[in-house]
Amino acid sequence: MSSAKKIINTVSVTPAEREAEVVISFSGVGKTFRAGAAVIQATKDINVDICEGEIVTIVGPSGCGKSTMLNLTAGLLSPTVGTVKYRNVPISDVNGRTGYMTQSDHLLPWRSVAGNIAVPLEISGMGKTERKARVDELAELVGLTQFLNSYPSQLSGGMRKRAALARLLAYDPETLLLDEPFAALDAQLRIKMQTELFQLSRRLKKTVLFVTHDIDEAVALGDRCLVFSGRPGTIVKNIEVPLPRDRAILALRKDQTYQQLCSDLWDILAPSMTVAH
Ligand SMILES: Nc1ncnc2c1ncn2[C@@H]1O[C@H](COP(=O)(O)OP(=O)(O)OP(=O)(O)O)[C@@H](O)[C@H]1O
Ligand SMILES: [Mg+2]
Repeated sequence: MSSAKKIINTVSVTPAEREAEVVISFSGVGKTFRAGAAVIQATKDINVDICEGEIVTIVGPSGCGKSTMLNLTAGLLSPTVGTVKYRNVPISDVNGRTGYMTQSDHLLPWRSVAGNIAVPLEISGMGKTERKARVDELAELVGLTQFLNSYPSQLSGGMRKRAALARLLAYDPETLLLDEPFAALDAQLRIKMQTELFQLSRRLKKTVLFVTHDIDEAVALGDRCLVFSGRPGTIVKNIEVPLPRDRAILALRKDQTYQQLCSDLWDILAPSMTVAH
């Protein structure tokens, strides 16, 4: 797919120009895994600043280090070389200011929706009355008020994702790390969830790192899109998405700028799709 007039630009916008504080900073980051005699260099030379309130999407072929970047931000892994900082402090332990949602929702099957959302609140020692009020508030936020007493097995895929999102928000993390959260959903439900996540993130002023394989999703949700490629993987493009900060996700499908952006991103990613595995 080629386009006569490409509208994607690689960014060189500095944090000062964004007028927002840097929350996450990767500087010369590489990660090497050792499994027995095998040495796997997963990523190399990652340099990027993520600012407060930004939604940054991450795309790229399988195995190029997208999840590794989230794990480093969450403090579940430490870099082999370079530094990962959170609010200017090197991350040296599990990063409690981030909330992490993986592709699998990990809801506890023996607990109702209310019980699942309450887990972080119980761990934090919140009293019963306050906890109930907070669970109700979170359920309302994600549209699950009618399903508080339902069990995960009684929910649709989208409802499960919403329950997992409410539980994640119960930790009140300032940064959301989302690894292909909607990959298993059908197209319609996916757009609905994208809309909800986008609006919630804006309303709650969250900083978001969102990994996806879906180019349309990367453009629809991102203020910026990081394109990963290679083995070891690195960021090959850092793209500013010139769509309004407040956008109606569903209406984007008919938006010419959006369509052109998706087409351009396809062109950028096409060569890396031939990366040998
Ligand atoms: N714990 C680990 N031990 C050994 N190798 C690992 C480990 N975690 C990741 N890797 C390797 O690091 C590389 C990057 O993995 P990562 O999971 O970050 O890729 P990804 O871009 O998220 O891929 P996918 O799109 O398939 O989820 C891969 O080669 C992977 O096999
Ligand atoms: Mg991954």
